[in-house]
Amino acid sequence: MTISRLQAHQYVEQAKLIHTSLDVWYRTHLNMNRFGSDWRPFLLMSDVYEALDPGCGLVVSDEAGVMLGTAFYHPRETHVGVGVVSVHPDAFGRGVAKALMQEILSVADGRPLRLVSSAMNIDSFSLYTRMGFVPQVTLQSLTLKVPAEGLQGGCSGVRAATMADVEAMGELEFRLNGVRKDKDYRFFVENAWGHWRLLVMEKADGSLAGFLGANAHPADRILGPGVAEDEAAMQGLVQAMLDRHFRGTDIVWMVPVRCTGLVRQGYGWGARNRETHLLSVLGNAPPMHGVVIPTFMPESG
Ligand SMILES: CC(C)(COP(=O)(O)OP(=O)(O)OC[C@H]1O[C@@H](n2cnc3c(N)ncnc32)[C@H](O)[C@@H]1OP(=O)(O)O)[C@@H](O)C(=O)NCCC(=O)NCCS
Repeated sequence: MTISRLQAHQYVEQAKLIHTSLDVWYRTHLNMNRFGSDWRPFLLMSDVYEALDPGCGLVVSDEAGVMLGTAFYHPRETHVGVGVVSVHPDAFGRGVAKALMQEILSVADGRPLRLVSSAMNIDSFSLYTRMGFVPQVTLQSLTLKVPAEGLQGGCSGVRAATMADVEAMGELEFRLNGVRKDKDYRFFVENAWGHWRLLVMEKADGSLAGFLGANAHPADRILGPGVAEDEAAMQGLVQAMLDRHFRGTDIVWMVPVRCTGLVRQGYGWGARNRETHLLSVLGNAPPMHGVVIPTFMPESG
């Protein structure tokens, strides 16, 4: 078994592996056909992550050079984000994921690791908790088809983010949750891909009450990352994002289960639960005072 950096000629093999891994695991363990039969949407991973964090894709191969597993990591100044981690079903339980995680741990060089995993997946839960990860936030993912005519409500102060907001976003997240991801927010505002959305909520004094990103790519529509001072601000951001950018489409987003206002807001629109998740940290885990909406694309922890 060898570990190497993901190369461009491996993108197709990797996309097929990620698809097979998730598809087989969810069908055999949860009886869910969540990921369909098409592996091509999973090319999104190498496409986005090689642009955002070049050279941070890892691959485990066997002696014949066949890919057994893969993972991405996302170095930031306060931590290293991890995900997605996938192992080929033929290689489950043989230490492939552990080898990938240990490589990421050594690259992190003392920085904490942060990730969001399924709370319904005992294998990933076991992998991470055996390594010492501690769940910090329990989340539920909600799915909704946003009505074509939009959503009622709305509040003032929500506008599209600009490059001038990035530092204030980074500072808000650091003050509330002890982590910084300015690089991600710059990436969203630059929007070379064309599918990123990013809104901020401004208070009367010009400071930020919160912000919320989204991925509007048709293969993977998801809200996040987002952070807000309180639930009211996050509710305003979620409403504005869905109303402005996702009318008539299916969308998913994760909310902390303790944020009953956000959960009620989703149910009120007719959203359905899809899955439960855990935001976990290995190493120093600063207290999280803000309301957080993490995402799987790009993984943010
Ligand atoms: C989750 C997944 C990545 C695990 O990969 P894997 O290569 O089978 O995992 P490994 O063999 O490296 O490690 C599993 C660890 O969990 C431990 N483990 C497994 N089941 C356990 C259980 N029920 N209780 C306690 N420990 C358990 C194993 O002992 C091992 O730890 P050890 O090496 O310290 O003994 C793999 O199942 C997968 O790809 N699933 C589908 C995709 C997915 O869900 N990815 C996770 C996204 S967050």
